[in-house]
Amino acid sequence: MRIFVTGAAGFIGSSVTEALLTRGDEVLGLDNFDPLLYERRHKELNLRAIGQHPRFSFEEGNIADRATVRRLLQGADGVIHLAALAGVRPSLREPERYMRVNVEGTVDVLECCREAGVNRVVVASSSSVYGARSKVPFHEDDPCDRPASPYAASKKATELICANYNELYGLGTTCLRYFTVYGPRQRPEMAIHKFVRMALAGVAVPMFGDGDSGRDYTFIDDVVAGTLAALDGQDQHYHVYNIGGSQPVLLHELITSIGQALGRDVTIEKRPWQAGDVPVTSADISRAQAELGYNPQVPLTEGLGRFIAWYRATLA
Ligand SMILES: NC(=O)c1ccc[n+]([C@@H]2O[C@H](COP(=O)([O-])OP(=O)(O)OC[C@H]3O[C@@H](n4cnc5c(N)ncnc54)[C@H](O)[C@@H]3O)[C@@H](O)[C@H]2O)c1
Repeated sequence: MRIFVTGAAGFIGSSVTEALLTRGDEVLGLDNFDPLLYERRHKELNLRAIGQHPRFSFEEGNIADRATVRRLLQGADGVIHLAALAGVRPSLREPERYMRVNVEGTVDVLECCREAGVNRVVVASSSSVYGARSKVPFHEDDPCDRPASPYAASKKATELICANYNELYGLGTTCLRYFTVYGPRQRPEMAIHKFVRMALAGVAVPMFGDGDSGRDYTFIDDVVAGTLAALDGQDQHYHVYNIGGSQPVLLHELITSIGQALGRDVTIEKRPWQAGDVPVTSADISRAQAELGYNPQVPLTEGLGRFIAWYRATLA
């Protein structure tokens, strides 16, 4: 298949692209190296890891540039739309920017899909749509109309837009609610990457709140497998799936596990709870298991080891 991947230079985008190429697909990647969350050099490193693959072409550009998106969509069999501004906390500072990229940008991509007649579209949503719920695990049918951050609101809006394009135009679309993805190439501002970097530098790691917030960490290979399964299984309907690891881990446990994996003591600096953060995320993955054959394989201890090995080989 010929697949158009937005956000192809990012953490998940470059990993999905690599997997598509490995299995024989052709990939057209688009990314504008947005500098808000992290530096361009990390994304260039991601692209370099994919290499000069003969079935991969990459273009630097913006999803809002419809002429470019239209051109790259010519002859595409499917789209994996991952380009977005991720991250909860920065979205409180720049809500307009998040809405422009995540909400309007999704409309730009879907409009081009509609025009081009591309009917196989997988879109990144997020566990953050569930808001500050304490009832776990989260199921796709749970209400999620109380987002805790502009980022979460932008992802819920993304889902509604996808549902609407299915309703109006029959665009076959699947939204994947990713749960805290980690592993090689993880964004440098995300917890595991940041904690490993700081611990190796002998700097205290910040612990927001009292350490008992929980996250359902999901290894990148499992996320890639779920994403490709959604792409392959796409029919003419609209779907939503949780793509999680289904084993929530408390923040203080995560920090302890990182210390054990690194073989060193990690000093913690306590910080106040952050607005926009949610106390827990936990995925009910039964729908993705039943309909996509999604079965996360990598437990946190193994995934941490694989992340640290990549970090040492690539960035340390
Ligand atoms: N990593 C996670 O834990 C996680 C969890 C839930 C959802 N998600 C979602 O998954 C997707 C990928 O996340 P990621 O962690 O790989 O983030 P990332 O920042 O590494 O990747 C996103 C990429 O999109 C690009 N981009 C941003 N705006 C763009 C624009 N206007 N035009 C073209 N490219 C643009 C960025 O340059 C970046 O390379 C995002 O939609 C994110 O919201 C990620």
